[in-house]
Amino acid sequence: MSAPATINGKEIFDLLRDDLVALEDEFGRDTVSSVRAITEIGEYLRAGGGKRIRPALLLLSSKLFHYQGRGAVRLGAVVEIIHTATLVHDDIIDEAKTRRGRPAANTQWGNSKCVLAGDWLYMQAFKMAVQERNFRILDTLIELTQMMVEGELLQIETLGKLITLEEYFDLIFRKTACLFSVCMRLGAILGGATLEQEGALGKYGHDLGMAFQIVDDVLDLTASPDVLGKPVASDLREGKATMAVIHALGRCTPEEREKIQAILHERAFNGVTHAHIVEILERYGSVEAATTRAAQYAESARRAICTFPDSEIKRALLWAPEFVVAREK
Ligand code: IPE
Ligand code: IPE
Ligand code: MG
Ligand code: MG
Repeated sequence: MSAPATINGKEIFDLLRDDLVALEDEFGRDTVSSVRAITEIGEYLRAGGGKRIRPALLLLSSKLFHYQGRGAVRLGAVVEIIHTATLVHDDIIDEAKTRRGRPAANTQWGNSKCVLAGDWLYMQAFKMAVQERNFRILDTLIELTQMMVEGELLQIETLGKLITLEEYFDLIFRKTACLFSVCMRLGAILGGATLEQEGALGKYGHDLGMAFQIVDDVLDLTASPDVLGKPVASDLREGKATMAVIHALGRCTPEEREKIQAILHERAFNGVTHAHIVEILERYGSVEAATTRAAQYAESARRAICTFPDSEIKRALLWAPEFVVAREK
């Protein structure tokens, strides 16, 4: 009997269940320090959960090549720890109070300790990656981390300003798509992929990551905070113009433009409600334009892996873009 043509989220979870359990153990073991505050912050972050989408991608990518070693779980923990460290720093920079439905680490331990815990986590991730004894893997991770830090820095420089769509795409590449792409490439490197296969999977990760961040930015405007587990409308309040806002600013009336710009400049909704801004964005089809762009990236991700032979793993990778575009948190 041939395998069914589609696969759902639960089946993918079942496929990765053992590895994801091993990943949690690895994360837990790797974030223990002789300094109690670091272990406590590490454990708080791990226990907060998260979708674990990045390690899941790395695992799937390695499985595409029937990789059997321990490296995939270890590097899965590495990318999740790097992701976690960027979130710790991001919440300090963004002055965010909640993350994953709980108080953000900075509200529990304060900024100073969290900056240092973030630094420690980065270094711990590299210490673990070194165990692979593979310079290509290290080069890739170093370049990635610098790219993400540059992304956050460039973002700070654009706060309160109008940016072009090009600048926006560059920012979200650095902040998010680069890591997604690296997850796919690391899985491919472990699995002994050809450069061409690694390139295709890297492109898949890039496009999926672009879709993921565009959707994150749309959800920031349209979701409810209870579902999202982090504050909403925070991008505008932080002075960030994201895709739907950039789209609307290019089309709206001078009055509407002034209202949006005032929020970006003042970093506050003074006399304008969040609902009113969403109304403006809806009027110009701006939320839809962003969602459509995310769907295009998702489709492009699927196309990037079309040359791989059919398998359960490939079907899981074909499903992920749908999940990313349809997700509510
Ligand atoms: C949040 O990433 C940061 C962005 C790149 C938007 P996730 O939405 O994957 O966060 P968790 O790990 O599931 O909490
Ligand atoms: C993504 O940016 C964070 C990083 C990749 C470091 P955001 O600032 O949009 O992420 P959230 O919305 O706080 O999760
Ligand atoms: Mg943030
Ligand atoms: Mg966001």
